Amino acid sequence: MFDKNYKIDDLMDFDEKYVLHTYARKKIRFSYGQNARLYTPCSREFIDFGSGIGVCSVGHGNQELADAIAKQAKDLIHLSNLYLIEPQALLAKKLVELCGYDMRVFFSNSGAEANECAIKIARKFGEKDEKIDRYKIITLESSFHGRTISTLKATGQDKMHLHFAPFPDGFLRAKDIDDIYNVVDSKTCGVLLELIQGEGGISPMDKEKIQKLAKFLKEKNILLMVDEVQSGIYRTGEIFASKVYGITPDIISTAKGLGGGIPIGATLTNLKNIFVPSDHGSTFGGNFLSTRAGLCVLEILEKEYNSGKLVATIDSFNQHLEKIISDFSFLFEKKVGIGLMCGLVAKDDNIQKNIIENAFEEGLLVLKSGKNVVRFLPPLTIKEDEISEGFERLRKACCKL
Ligand SMILES: Cc1ncc(COP(=O)(O)O)c(C=O)c1O
Repeated sequence: MFDKNYKIDDLMDFDEKYVLHTYARKKIRFSYGQNARLYTPCSREFIDFGSGIGVCSVGHGNQELADAIAKQAKDLIHLSNLYLIEPQALLAKKLVELCGYDMRVFFSNSGAEANECAIKIARKFGEKDEKIDRYKIITLESSFHGRTISTLKATGQDKMHLHFAPFPDGFLRAKDIDDIYNVVDSKTCGVLLELIQGEGGISPMDKEKIQKLAKFLKEKNILLMVDEVQSGIYRTGEIFASKVYGITPDIISTAKGLGGGIPIGATLTNLKNIFVPSDHGSTFGGNFLSTRAGLCVLEILEKEYNSGKLVATIDSFNQHLEKIISDFSFLFEKKVGIGLMCGLVAKDDNIQKNIIENAFEEGLLVLKSGKNVVRFLPPLTIKEDEISEGFERLRKACCKL
């Protein structure tokens, strides 16, 4: 859908004039999409290997999701959390059953909010649990946890902290997993980490180190808090990356892929009675529309998973990446990531930049991550023809260098 009354230049002018300048936008106007394909009003086609930074998990224009949203919108979009919200209860049940962790869920509207809730759970746990107040949360270098003031402080990239001090107290930084043992002190209540750093270069943590850390934290009664905002909801091939790592976190935060594009965040915890009414809340969080969308997304993805389609898609996508690595070894060092959260490490940041730009010109959307990684987060429902056409375009983009 697009408004014929406006030319792209007019819209770019409005955007420039009226919208705060927080994004370096490209001059492109998409009007509709079909699974991993996107179209401009003049029918120029793109293949989407980014899915709105890992959000459009069931693709664009998904009929089942559109029908579920439309039906729910006609019935009820929103009531306050003071009343029972049927799809919210059903979505919480579905999430807990799919992951198999003995947890309860709080719903919010974004990844940062899901992490805010995680932080509040850890703080209340630390306050309640011991004679001394434990309030410190350890996070890792190169991590990304959001842009609210406390999730920004939790984010381990100092360049993002410029201009916004003072920050809330109680966040400690570890260089890497090994360094966590040095940083833990008597006031630590939790460790918050991404198993695969999404913005920090798509580099997965070492499985053995994570399992050892999980054991250590349990012994010390410190919470293991896993940020699965990007890695969750089947992105790695399992409902949560935590399953791939064989761990049982105390808290999992997730968002992006859960609503298929409708904003939703979720925080799951095994501290099932940590909150009492009024400890936490959200006006919009968990409303009829977003949780209905989440429920529909999970039903679609559960089928993809159970039928073996997801694993076949992951295999095919990764084989194409391997082939790119071997054919363009002068551009790339290696492939990184797990499942459909993957990347190619470019030899330098210039190559990364040029590949992303050339791919765009060829009609392919790919993302950046870290200093030199070309990131791929395609829809989990991407089809074989879309994969091969996308990689054909990526090859052309590489050949131009
Ligand atoms: C791992 C991780 N945590 C948190 C966030 C913040 O999510 P949101 O932008 O929905 O607040 C992101 C977003 O990219 C993320 O990748």
